[in-house]
Amino acid sequence: MSNSDRYILGINSAYHESSACLIDNGQLVIAIEEERLNRVKHAKPAKVDNPHVLPLKSIQLCLEKAGISFQDIDLIGYSFNPEMRLSKNKDLQEPCIDGDWGSESGEELFYRKLQEVTQILSNFAGVDVSRKFKWLDHHLCHAASAYFVSPYEEAAVLVVDGIGEFESTTLYKGKGNKLSKLNSIDYPNSLGFLWEKMSEFLGFSEYDACKVMGLASFGHYSYYYNSFKEFINTKSGNFSIDNDIIKFRINDFSALEELFGPRRIAGQELEERHTDIAASLQKITEEIILDLAVDLHHRTKSNNLCLAGGVSLNCVVNGILQEHSSFENIYIQPAANDAGTAIGAAYILWNQVLGNSKNYIMDNPYLGPEYTAEEIETVLDNNNLKYSYHENIEEVTAKLIAQGYIIGWFQGRSEIGPRALGNRSLLADPRHPYMKDIINMKVKKREGFRPFAPSVLAEKADEWFKIPNKQLSSNFMLIAYDVLKNKQKTIPAVTHVDGTSRIQTVQSSSNPKYHKLIKEFEKITEVPILLNTSLNKLEPIVCSPQDAVNTMKKANLYYLAIGNFLVDNTWSK
Ligand SMILES: [Fe+2]
Repeated sequence: MSNSDRYILGINSAYHESSACLIDNGQLVIAIEEERLNRVKHAKPAKVDNPHVLPLKSIQLCLEKAGISFQDIDLIGYSFNPEMRLSKNKDLQEPCIDGDWGSESGEELFYRKLQEVTQILSNFAGVDVSRKFKWLDHHLCHAASAYFVSPYEEAAVLVVDGIGEFESTTLYKGKGNKLSKLNSIDYPNSLGFLWEKMSEFLGFSEYDACKVMGLASFGHYSYYYNSFKEFINTKSGNFSIDNDIIKFRINDFSALEELFGPRRIAGQELEERHTDIAASLQKITEEIILDLAVDLHHRTKSNNLCLAGGVSLNCVVNGILQEHSSFENIYIQPAANDAGTAIGAAYILWNQVLGNSKNYIMDNPYLGPEYTAEEIETVLDNNNLKYSYHENIEEVTAKLIAQGYIIGWFQGRSEIGPRALGNRSLLADPRHPYMKDIINMKVKKREGFRPFAPSVLAEKADEWFKIPNKQLSSNFMLIAYDVLKNKQKTIPAVTHVDGTSRIQTVQSSSNPKYHKLIKEFEKITEVPILLNTSLNKLEPIVCSPQDAVNTMKKANLYYLAIGNFLVDNTWSK
């Protein structure tokens, strides 16, 4: 390795949310999740027999975007360390399924499959890549994915997810181009797994933490708080979870049912009890993370906090950290989940291993593929769609939204991370009192309680929301803020039941087209805000123009604004 190493490929595939990114002299050229290309949510399930299923479509796209071949890649960072995982997981005394996670045969299979990764990459590259390839600790990759692309030269870093190799929570200090570990908490003491298991208990899938967070606002935490305390211990800077009760690795909810009553089966009616359980889970999580932040601040004395790991997508916790922790600044990058570890893997090599200074700030999520007007038009023609070209597509679209239409909005480069942030979005009028229900029930076929988030012009945000301290991560829809009391009735479709809103502030510098659209909407309505949700229906967020057309048809949208074209789908109604 040398300082002349220029192109670094980052890869995540060990569990799920497979992704790849490419950096060129420290600049992030492209970052893409495989699910956007293979059209499978989370790209693949996290299983012991599939870590070697690599995001090859994403890797190919990285090469195409940079205009290079695989031979030009100088280094490859992979966001997992197989040795570290194998050395610890198989010896735990806990109930598990033979051949699955935690069992000797399951862990050894996972290890063997990981060993195939370099050979598969070499086959793909047409040359032996093993000398360029580096295994990297999963949590270090999470930490790097936030700190090395943050605006700070020093920061405290908190990583909270289900499990890395063995760690579930890790504290770091970032200074210059180095990250050093301060403390870690190991599996089974895992907030990420706690949320997965409780999501299943409440009748959702393990991936539905976001739904449970939305549900929590409807409940009261006091009823089940002590039930959680039966198996979760919190102490200063630490916490533990009794795995004899939660039983993370088997499908057994009996001990939880003794504490909370019968688990909800998917499709059963949601009762008050379920919202109260969700509220208690949210409350305990807030307390634990705030306590970890106190410990981290004590250890680092930093004003800056970087967050990563799937639990960092909990925007209510993030809002509380902003308001109640001692950190002045908080940075979370939009792919805080495992998808972001590909970015972390690349930057560990660039900064920490090669010794380069920090030279990139991730201030926008628009890092995926984009399509030319010709490519878009070809797709529209091939689908026999009725469409028109508009020089001022923003004005035309804003008028339609103000008239009450729900519009598909497809522009520029796709976003990295689980949120659509104005380039692959479904947009609507936030003033409409029934818009939330209409989109949930008719368009997206989601549960009726689920809230929608607003995009607001950055320069107008504090006229509508209580924003104590502006954070870069507000651009990524990752922090919940209170909607000002006198504004709540004006924007009911994006005001959650607890009076908060998970806002996205939109800067003209990072997304001029989306900024202009909201400004056009403001001209008509005096409201500088749009309801923004992802352009998809029960599938990954759309990536290509054909995906957008498919979603327009599946979701029965009347209009799709794609590039400067407006597709009129009303004739098919
Ligand atoms: Fe992770």
